[in-house]
Amino acid sequence: MILELLKERCSVRAFTDTMIPQQIIDYILECGRLSPSGGNEQPWKFGVVTNKVLIERIAEMTYYNKSWIVKAPLLIVLCTQLFPDEAKGPIIKGRFPSLTEKLAKADEQLCLCLNMEEHQVKIPGTHMVLAALEHGIGSTWVSYFNCEDVSRILGLKGYIASQILAFGYPVEKMKQKPKKKPEDIIFYNYFNEEDM
Ligand SMILES: Cc1cc2nc3c(=O)[nH]c(=O)nc-3n(C[C@H](O)[C@H](O)[C@H](O)COP(=O)(O)O)c2cc1C
Repeated sequence: MILELLKERCSVRAFTDTMIPQQIIDYILECGRLSPSGGNEQPWKFGVVTNKVLIERIAEMTYYNKSWIVKAPLLIVLCTQLFPDEAKGPIIKGRFPSLTEKLAKADEQLCLCLNMEEHQVKIPGTHMVLAALEHGIGSTWVSYFNCEDVSRILGLKGYIASQILAFGYPVEKMKQKPKKKPEDIIFYNYFNEEDM
């Protein structure tokens, strides 16, 4: 079942005017809520945007995406908690042992930005995309937008808008883009056995 959905999925950027029923929005959100996260911290909030004016304002804050986002009946803004644990600081610092010293001296704001790309909202987002598709709803991830402006208009505190998912019923039949072949992306054990 999941494989069938995954084979069908593609980014949809042209939506009909049909609104998404609240029951289905609830289902999509529930599938996101049940996601795993490091330490089960669930360092996120999901902003559900159905207000046309707000959708237009958010679309204005994206780069090159405005024309089709304004037509989406639903945006879910995936927001990341900035400092889940104040004492630890940005999580990213522990991820790169060879860079620990440099990262300790690194600019806090810069680490924060890097951490935003590292954050975990892509997991609930992926659940949501598939949950929507089960109901014939297409979607596209949007990461190319001004995070600070979007966070400001949503009134976020302690969270930053990290990714936007635009949802709607597709105008056209969905057609998946070609994906790399298994042999091009999978390795077993060592990256290159001959090097070992
Ligand atoms: C994390 C992420 C960010 C993305 N950001 C954007 C974006 O800002 N604008 C856009 O039009 N598409 C965006 N996309 C959609 C990709 O362009 C699309 O997934 C890719 O071309 C593969 O096509 P497919 O989704 O149809 O398989 C994003 C996708 C992902 C996964």
